[in-house]
Amino acid sequence: MNLDTSYLGLKLRNPLVASAGPMTQTADRVERLAEAGVGAVVLPSLFEEQIRAEADRDERLAEVGIDSFGEAMTYLVDPDASIWPRHYLSLIERAAGAGVPVIASLNGTTPGGWTDYARAMQDAGAAAIELNIYYLTADPLMPARDAEQRYVDILTTVKAVVSVPVAVKLTPYFSSFGEAAVRLDRAGADGLVLFNRFMQTDIDPDTLTVSTGFKLSAPNEATVARSWIARLRGHVRASLAASTGVETADDVAAYLLAGADVVMTTSSLLRHGAAHATVLLDGLTAWMERKGFGDVGEFRGLLAQPAGSAGPGYGRSGYLSAVEGASRTYTPG
Ligand SMILES: Cc1cc2nc3c(=O)[nH]c(=O)nc-3n(C[C@H](O)[C@H](O)[C@H](O)COP(=O)(O)O)c2cc1C
Repeated sequence: MNLDTSYLGLKLRNPLVASAGPMTQTADRVERLAEAGVGAVVLPSLFEEQIRAEADRDERLAEVGIDSFGEAMTYLVDPDASIWPRHYLSLIERAAGAGVPVIASLNGTTPGGWTDYARAMQDAGAAAIELNIYYLTADPLMPARDAEQRYVDILTTVKAVVSVPVAVKLTPYFSSFGEAAVRLDRAGADGLVLFNRFMQTDIDPDTLTVSTGFKLSAPNEATVARSWIARLRGHVRASLAASTGVETADDVAAYLLAGADVVMTTSSLLRHGAAHATVLLDGLTAWMERKGFGDVGEFRGLLAQPAGSAGPGYGRSGYLSAVEGASRTYTPG
């Protein structure tokens, strides 16, 4: 059985990737994931705010002078806020020893100097950079084009300072997601990751407060990412990575059938531990055997949207019969 995969031009032993999150936060955890068989890992994001905080701290330390360094540290340094960027580079170095490609992740929303950090990540051993452009447009009057341009600007700024491939992790919340994805492809994105999940802001009517948080995903949340991958397959040069809603090997197979080059998972690994990667890979191999496939390339994109047509499942053509079917299934008692 051949699971060999190419992603962002990198050769992976299989298409299962541990996405950014707590499972990849230490070198030990990355090692456990590599032992469990993943093809690559994405480290948690380093935030623009953290990079700026460290740069500010360095500047202030330079102002007070090296002689008073020890004393200055006690006044100026918030260890949690300012040490992290350098720590991140050493995480890349150590994680790279686990034997699978390590993708570093940068999270920011403005095309400022923090993007230079991508170069430091590359120098520390990152095989690629994933840009998690988590742009929460709180301004209701922000034009859609301006919001999209922000993504393109950050991508081109980062591409200018690194030679390793750069992927962009996206949300589906664009007026015309497909066109935004194609623009990023044309602007040089080596990969598109569909999708990140926004934090779940909510309102508690009991305490009259606004809450934020993250819940782990469920498999039924995969349908939006899966259908966009199916629509983009063949329309972009960039690699396509699936992210959201993988729990079983069938979820992995379905994403590959849609046209994903790699399939990422965070929630299932957090739920079941690193060894779940082996369960997913064994399950994928068993599924391939049952279906008579010997190579991932034989079925990747088999159920993608056919070129030049909306296809029965992906456009409006199947919509009416889907509504009728659902009305029969969910007849009120
Ligand atoms: C606790 C937690 C932390 C995460 N941290 C990051 C992060 O640092 N950077 C990032 O790009 N995505 C992060 N994610 C998003 C995941 O990488 C992934 O895209 C998302 O959870 C959807 O995939 P899943 O359904 O497999 O969980 C995080 C997710 C969770 C649950």
